[in-house]
Amino acid sequence: MANMARAALTLPLLLCLLCFSAVAYGVFVSNLNAACLRCLCFAITGCNATLACSKGYCGPFYISRVYWADAGKPVFPEDDPERAGAYQDCAKEYNCAASIVTNYMARFGRDCNRDGVTNCDDYAMIHYNGGFSCETSLEGTNFSAKYEVCRPGTLSDV
Ligand SMILES: *[C@@H]1O[C@H](CO)[C@@H](O)[C@H](O)[C@H]1NC(C)=O
Ligand SMILES: *[C@@H]1O[C@H](CO)[C@@H](O)[C@H](O)[C@H]1NC(C)=O
Repeated sequence: MANMARAALTLPLLLCLLCFSAVAYGVFVSNLNAACLRCLCFAITGCNATLACSKGYCGPFYISRVYWADAGKPVFPEDDPERAGAYQDCAKEYNCAASIVTNYMARFGRDCNRDGVTNCDDYAMIHYNGGFSCETSLEGTNFSAKYEVCRPGTLSDV
């Protein structure tokens, strides 16, 4: 009887280990869809997929170590956030970097421009200004000019 009870507990525990490794990729943030992520990527670096790390920023989303840490240190499945290079490897690859951005927005997402909705315009402000001071207007920045090119229409946001 005791053995059976242990066995019954083991399976859910194993499943839960699997579900934890998927957490960084499974976060859902309202209005942060693929088009918005792609547009943030375009606005910040032209979404250059071959960008490595320079001056403290890595990859097509131009992610700093502090941003990554504030996002909860997402890494590739099976990787270890404490491994040297784990942050850089994730930030340099589009899908892994997108999971960093998604986790960051899950934590800091709010209505930065106070227009009554939290959508890609706010995520753009958060990505550029940082989550702690996202209210600063993006007007006049190169980031903003490029964001306007691909800005997702608010009506089609889900
Ligand atoms: C992407 O970045 C690399 C490395 O900085 C650079 O050599 C290349 O010209 C860039 N590509 C585009 C399309 O900007
Ligand atoms: C904006 O882009 C232009 C052209 O690429 C560049 O000369 C200028 O230095 C950039 N301005 C800022 C604030 O990055």
